[in-house]
Amino acid sequence: MTSNPTLADLAGRVTADRDRPAYGHDALITCDRLVRVFTADGVEVQALQGLDLLVREGELMALVGASGSGKSTLMNILAGLDTPTAGAARVAGRDLLAMTAKDRLAYRREVVGFVWQQTSRNLLPYLTSAQNVTLPMQLAGRRSRTARRARAERARELLELLGVADCAGRRPHEMSGGQQQRVAIAVALAGGPSVLLADEPTGELDSHTAEQIFAAFRTANEQLGTTIVIVTHDQAVAGEVRRTVAIRDGRTSTEVLRRSEVDADTGDEKVVAREYAMLDRAGRLQLPAEYTRALGMRDRVALELEPDHIAVRPDDSGRE
Ligand SMILES: Nc1ncnc2c1ncn2[C@@H]1O[C@H](COP(=O)(O)OP(=O)(O)O)[C@@H](O)[C@H]1O
Ligand SMILES: [Mg+2]
Repeated sequence: MTSNPTLADLAGRVTADRDRPAYGHDALITCDRLVRVFTADGVEVQALQGLDLLVREGELMALVGASGSGKSTLMNILAGLDTPTAGAARVAGRDLLAMTAKDRLAYRREVVGFVWQQTSRNLLPYLTSAQNVTLPMQLAGRRSRTARRARAERARELLELLGVADCAGRRPHEMSGGQQQRVAIAVALAGGPSVLLADEPTGELDSHTAEQIFAAFRTANEQLGTTIVIVTHDQAVAGEVRRTVAIRDGRTSTEVLRRSEVDADTGDEKVVAREYAMLDRAGRLQLPAEYTRALGMRDRVALELEPDHIAVRPDDSGRE
């Protein structure tokens, strides 16, 4: 579908790129044409096929997409658990393709925190909530009594912030799924990460409990300033964030931005959502399938540059 650029195109691009700041220079998370190929039984699966994504510091955003579209693959890469096949990925100034095993360990302890879908994967079953929260700090910190007291105090504060102070002395099997996930968020925040990653954290919970979990993420984002990326299937959760990015076939395809507006007639505040398509640096644009299907567009479309927009029309070259 994409045509190869001519030499003249390339020359033009090089000149333009030189004057432009580097892609994602001011973002906390930058994924630049990220590729991840898995080989299983001699068969190649392209889980990520040149994914571009920028996340600003302090953002709380959601990633959505069909099953198998590459969401978990991306999260595992950002979590430092997997390495991309090609492309570039940077989080808080760290190059995820150039980290040594030691850097990777430090990265997972200091830069990112994660919450998984399976509540059982987030907490150690034989430790209380307070112990689960102090453990990551203990691994990273000093042994002195003052240090220990400071960790216990921080654990108490985090559990309180997430509304599960009363669960401090309980083990995972003594709590509901929703309480366990909120404790899991406290564990993920214990090391004071710049980024919190959550892969379908409400997938095993009912919608009311999911709402509480989401409120906990929002609290963490607002009170601690942590940048948060949540993968979710839940439309209600996706509707709560300002920005939702859709992933399709291993690439970011569309993006919905929401902002509050005051209704000019009633004076009421309402949330206005608008859908955007991603435009990559080569000018490639993916049109939503519903749009192209509605107008019977395929293979080729007619383009016209207007003063303030670009018109995309069905190809009528075959008709007279
Ligand atoms: N370790 C792996 N080995 C082989 N294929 C994998 C592996 N992990 C994921 N895949 C494949 O990559 C694609 C994307 O998977 P995934 O990132 O888990 O999607 P999602 O989380 O959006 O459902 C799927 O086709 C999946 O089967
Ligand atoms: Mg997944």
